[in-house]
Order: sequence, then structure tokens, then C-alpha cells
Amino acid sequence: MENSSLMDEFLDRMTINVSEFYRNRKRFEVLEHKVIPYLLGKKKRLKIWSAACSTGEEPYTLAMILSRYISLDQVDILATDLDRNALDRAKEGLYHERSLKEVTPQVKHNHFTKEGSYYRVGKDIRDSVTFKEHNLLADNYPGGFDLIVCRNVMIYFTEQAKQVIYQNFSQAMNEESIFFVGSTEQIFSPQKYGFEVYDTFFYKKV
Ligand SMILES: C[S@@+](CC[C@H](N)C(=O)[O-])C[C@H]1O[C@@H](n2cnc3c(N)ncnc32)[C@H](O)[C@@H]1O
Repeated sequence: MENSSLMDEFLDRMTINVSEFYRNRKRFEVLEHKVIPYLLGKKKRLKIWSAACSTGEEPYTLAMILSRYISLDQVDILATDLDRNALDRAKEGLYHERSLKEVTPQVKHNHFTKEGSYYRVGKDIRDSVTFKEHNLLADNYPGGFDLIVCRNVMIYFTEQAKQVIYQNFSQAMNEESIFFVGSTEQIFSPQKYGFEVYDTFFYKKV
């Protein structure tokens, strides 16, 4: 009994699901105007992983940005989280207005439909993302990615766990691919993992 309430408390702490579309908008502008053109300059089909995606705002933002450049059948977006409830909500694609505060009127018009006081993400965007359960601390990592986005989760991990996770991400990435981290999650000694700084909060695998 005590163990199960401890476990609940632990899960509550580890699954703080706060997210929003275009979280830290300036970084997504760098992604849109620098990173995506760079990646598409090398390959016409991109494989992307949004790790610890919570309720889906992050992978859907990626799909909205990519749809400006290429047809969404040319991208594979995997979105994973530990929390099954968050993934169920992500698949629904229904959001309160507060999750959209960084969304421009144009993007809102192109990719959302209003349903009462909520907004539903368009089906083409929803269909371009595959959601799966994955625990960054315990599960095997998939591979072959051109872009990995992992933001606002590393803060919960110990230094030792972070080192293992960065190593795993590095192995999951193709050469010259990009790793995008959260705005308080700069990597100390990126070269240890085969990364070099590409832009603030973006690393390139060398
Ligand atoms: C604050 S949210 C970040 C959401 C999104 N990446 C963003 O930046 O807006 C943190 C997410 O990390 C997930 N998480 C926590 N520990 C995890 C683990 N070991 N493996 C995978 N996901 C985890 C939580 O379930 C939660 O959805």
C-alpha cells in the first residue's frame, strides 16, 4: 500500500505534462528557418523523434513546420512518452486555447478547427505522427534519426542518467543530424557524446 502510493507520487512527479505548441517560440524559429532547410539540403526524407512528447504539442508543432517545406508523406515523426494517459490525449489532438498562445493566426487557421472552447489539430498533421510508449531510462532506443527533439525532461534526471541518455541519443542519430534540447538544458561537454554546438540549444552530431 505504502509502496503503491510512493509509486503514484513518483509517477506524478516524473510526468509533469506541461507543454504547449511552439514552446519557446524563438527556438522553433531557428528550427524552421535554419535547421529544417539544412536537413532538407542533405536528404529528401526525414526521420524525426520527439522524445518525452507529453500530450503531443511538440511533435504536432514539428509536423506543422515541416508541412511548409515538404509533403508530410516524406517525414516519419515518432513521438514517445512514458505516460500512457498523456499519449492518449496526444492522439485525440484536442487542446485548450492556453496551449496555443504562441501559435500565429495563420498557423491556427491552417492547422486547427475550433470545437467549443477547444481546438482540434487537423487530421493530416495528426496522421503524420506515430505515438508510442517509451521510457528513456529503461527501454531500447530506436535509431536512424535526422532530428531528435528532447526538451524539458532532462531536468528531472540525475547527472549519471543524463550521460547515459545523451550517449543513447547520439547512437540513435545519423551523422550530421541535429539534437534539439530544452531552454534550460544546455549540454555540458557536448564533444563527449560526439556533438558540436550548431546553434543555441541545437547540437550537430559530427
Ligand atoms: C514537461 S513535459 C515536456 C513535454 C515537451 N517535450 C515540451 O517540452 O513541451 C515532460 C514529459 O517527460 C515525460 N517523462 C518523464 N520521465 C520520462 C522517462 N523516463 N521517459 C520518457 N518520458 C518521460 C513525462 O511523462 C512528461 O510528459
